[in-house]
Amino acid sequence: MKEIRLDKYLADMGLGTRSQVKSLIRKGHVRVEEKIVKSPEYKVGLRDEVTVGGNRVTYKSYEYLMLHKPRGVVSATEDKKERTVLDLIAETSRKDLFPVGRLDKDTEGLLLLTNDGALAHELLSPKKHVDKKYFAKVRGILTESEVQIFARGLDIGDDKPTLPAKLKILNADADISEIEVTIQEGRFHQVKRMFEAVGCRVVYLKRLSMGSLILDEKLRPGEYRSLTEEETAELRK
Ligand code: URA
Repeated sequence: MKEIRLDKYLADMGLGTRSQVKSLIRKGHVRVEEKIVKSPEYKVGLRDEVTVGGNRVTYKSYEYLMLHKPRGVVSATEDKKERTVLDLIAETSRKDLFPVGRLDKDTEGLLLLTNDGALAHELLSPKKHVDKKYFAKVRGILTESEVQIFARGLDIGDDKPTLPAKLKILNADADISEIEVTIQEGRFHQVKRMFEAVGCRVVYLKRLSMGSLILDEKLRPGEYRSLTEEETAELRK
């Protein structure tokens, strides 16, 4: 069974920085299998009973967070100039999280953060055609003709046309229309470029879902929560 250092175990589970948890350990606050362990490098099994100040700390190898990304932050783990989506996550969270795919700086909505590289790969693989649904406000005239063009797949200036996309016009207006669009790929600026290709301009974009995962509307922009076990199981299917 996998073993890891006690200080890493506690830091991964958000008990503090590496030096803070070392201090907890050295002061005798941490027990493994009921015995006080004072050495941070002690190797602990992932199923061992670890307690801090009497409270059980269970190790989770993987973390899955649903973030309602606000506008104005970039989908990266670090950036020299811009605030990143990881800057929105509490410092006590684990340090190996990354965003699954990217939303533009001015796009908001569902973004999954995890440290599960295999699941991220599955969700992002172009071969898997995972549906991504967006709500958008679009300047320009949209009619049934654009619905058909999107359904066939369209040339947005790449080597290949896009895969078929589902366009639903919620509210067509002479100025700004409200739509939902579901795409199967994740090309750079894909939704914006699809609308540009039909002479329109996206003025607001929000991701509503990715595969089976639906943005929890209780989350306000900038807020996040862990996925439920059902949500994680559905995503893995
Ligand atoms: N398509 C875009 O153009 N931007 C996004 O952020 C996501 C999809």
